[in-house]
Amino acid sequence: MTEQNVTRATFDEVMVPNYKPQDMVPVRGEGSRVWDQNGKEYLDFTGGIAVNALGHANPRLVKALQEQSEKLWHLSNVYTNEPALKLAKRLTELTFADKVFFCNSGGEANEAAFKLVRKYAYDNVGPEKHEIISFRQSFHGRTLFTVSVGGQEKYRKGFEPVPEGITHVEFNNLEALKAAMSDRTCAVVMEPIQGEGGIIPADPEFVRGVRELCDQHNALLVFDEIQTGVGRTGHFYAYMELGVEPDVLTTAKALGGGFPIGAMLTTDKCAESLGFGTHGSTYGGNPLGCAVALEVVNTISDEQMLADVQRKHGLFVEELDRINREHGIFEEVRGKGLLIGGALKQEWHGQGARFLAAARAEGLMLLVAGPQVLRMAPALNISDDEIREGMQRFARAVAKVVAKGSEA
Ligand SMILES: Cc1ncc(COP(=O)(O)O)c(C=O)c1O
Repeated sequence: MTEQNVTRATFDEVMVPNYKPQDMVPVRGEGSRVWDQNGKEYLDFTGGIAVNALGHANPRLVKALQEQSEKLWHLSNVYTNEPALKLAKRLTELTFADKVFFCNSGGEANEAAFKLVRKYAYDNVGPEKHEIISFRQSFHGRTLFTVSVGGQEKYRKGFEPVPEGITHVEFNNLEALKAAMSDRTCAVVMEPIQGEGGIIPADPEFVRGVRELCDQHNALLVFDEIQTGVGRTGHFYAYMELGVEPDVLTTAKALGGGFPIGAMLTTDKCAESLGFGTHGSTYGGNPLGCAVALEVVNTISDEQMLADVQRKHGLFVEELDRINREHGIFEEVRGKGLLIGGALKQEWHGQGARFLAAARAEGLMLLVAGPQVLRMAPALNISDDEIREGMQRFARAVAKVVAKGSEA
């Protein structure tokens, strides 16, 4: 076969159209910089949507992957392996959890969590205790169960019938949750900061109230930390700052720093309900993914690293406030650590794609979180100079969009 020429146009020819990638094809990355097929350079404020927490081609991760790739790639769960055991040990040392289940993505980690909470209630109470409560605008993945628990109708539409026994209530509204809970509730599922829903942090008081209600109703509390976990908020997991421990926590994205891996963390007692043969995954706990993730976890759990993420939050907000004083596009800048959302003013709602395209032209990779919020989730080790340089590019992009005016 001859060498094939592929471009962005090839995507439309041969790929299922469920995505609409930007008009360039990245070919190489180093730290927070990326180059496309034409050699154009970009600063990356997306971090692969909160995944590349240590930047592109991080030497420590490359080394971990290379070393493991020469030893053992895959075994299946008929055998265990050293990287998986070391990673599980480290995760249990660092968190509330006693036990770990490995998988390959966030959706799968949540699938495991949702099956676990149902099975735990089934084992300990009975089949009638099966109701899951989650929150509007929440996002938990794209499998049928996870779009059902997720609070965004658009992701379920056309895929019905979906799993039953799931109720959605307003986020940050304790009274609404109280009214929805009963002894049939097996679990409450929440993101400490709603990510895809628009970077909406949970009020600490609300989270404490959720924990209390779960305890009153003998229901489990599941934190989906797929986007907020592994240092993103300036804490190793966001729950650590909130001072509320879940019974089950799901983590993926940054866990592998770009290598696909997910995990569900839980307590000894809950883990008993996923006994031998109840659940599984061919690739879950794959030695390559676990070797890389161990390096990620050891690097990011460092106190200084986490403190630096909190400090850089201040720099991001300062720069965004400055741009906003000039152009007035944001109603609010919010988020924690390096998960930052600029909520667009009414007249810019639904026009996030214009800002993304303008940023791309200026050499900046940017995200949206729903139709009303521009999102930034860069590598946690992005430098101050890269933040400032990226913000200069962003300012130029905003100026161009604003000069053309709103299309609302
Ligand atoms: C909070 C949250 N949960 C679950 C998921 C799904 O993860 P994945 O795309 O790896 O299946 C995401 C992805 O954006 C997420 O942000």
